[in-house]
Amino acid sequence: MSDTRIPLLIDTDPGVDDALALLMAFADPRHAVVGLTIAAGNVGLAHTVANALKLCEVCGVEVPVYPGAATPLVHPARDAAYVHGRDGFGDTGYAPAARRAEAEHAALAILRLSHVHAGRLLLVALGPLTNLALALRLDPSLPQRIARCVVMGGAVTAHGNITPAAEFNIAFDPEAAHVVFGAFPQVELADWEAVLAHGLLHADVERWLAADSPRARFYAGISAHTRAWSRAAGRGERWHAADALAMALALRPDGVREAEARPLAVEVAGIHTRGATVIDWNRQTGDADNARLLRRYDQALFERLLAEALAAR
Ligand code: BDR
Ligand code: CA
Repeated sequence: MSDTRIPLLIDTDPGVDDALALLMAFADPRHAVVGLTIAAGNVGLAHTVANALKLCEVCGVEVPVYPGAATPLVHPARDAAYVHGRDGFGDTGYAPAARRAEAEHAALAILRLSHVHAGRLLLVALGPLTNLALALRLDPSLPQRIARCVVMGGAVTAHGNITPAAEFNIAFDPEAAHVVFGAFPQVELADWEAVLAHGLLHADVERWLAADSPRARFYAGISAHTRAWSRAAGRGERWHAADALAMALALRPDGVREAEARPLAVEVAGIHTRGATVIDWNRQTGDADNARLLRRYDQALFERLLAEALAAR
């Protein structure tokens, strides 16, 4: 019998919120995760690859893990270990996964899988866009074979989280983001400001983490550091799991309550604004609407997806 599930390829830099997004994807019966392509970002590549493999092991899934770019395309960038822990997974000292990563480079895996699943592939990018940019430079026809491209990144009114104007994933590799937004006809974007509008009460998260499942127990451990950091950073009663919102958008687009399409350009040269996503709100440039900006998502559905992902076995 043919597999009617939607093939899902996730480019990611795990990362605590990446991990939550992956749990959502693994738990969704309507999607089949066909690969994880890994970039450096939140922490270095050795850690992000090890974290992806470990999460697969905890979840009992055999999804192949493809290591990709260890650095941004052009300029070095600072990681986010202060948020996610030095190993990107909260420094719990977990035992490394038994399985090894694939030998194929992430950029090549993206291209190959785009042929295998041509016209049906859902591509979700949860980290810096370096692997995707490399793939696009190798084969500019890639977007023709992608059904949807969903990205977590940017700050659509320039309320950044890593600099005053820029969000982490885009600021880590602005040149790569420039390539990606210039190549896809329309990227579906969950930006940092949408994330801020969809915070999760710490009390709810703690309740979901109490589920009797290996996933919830593992996730409670690896997220403890970043949840404490969020509280200490004065972000109030709510925790913001950026990549999880992007995954909700990817898995359940019917949860979108408000979205706007606009031209988006990435600032690569600014002194104060490098990595900013500049939205042409008034359509002054005449450029194409290359981004569909998520503004409001069904919060109850988002929370249900999270609770189910953590409780899944
Ligand atoms: C993004 O930056 C990373 O630290 C997170 O994993 C997320 O992808 C939020 O700005
Ligand atoms: Ca991420």
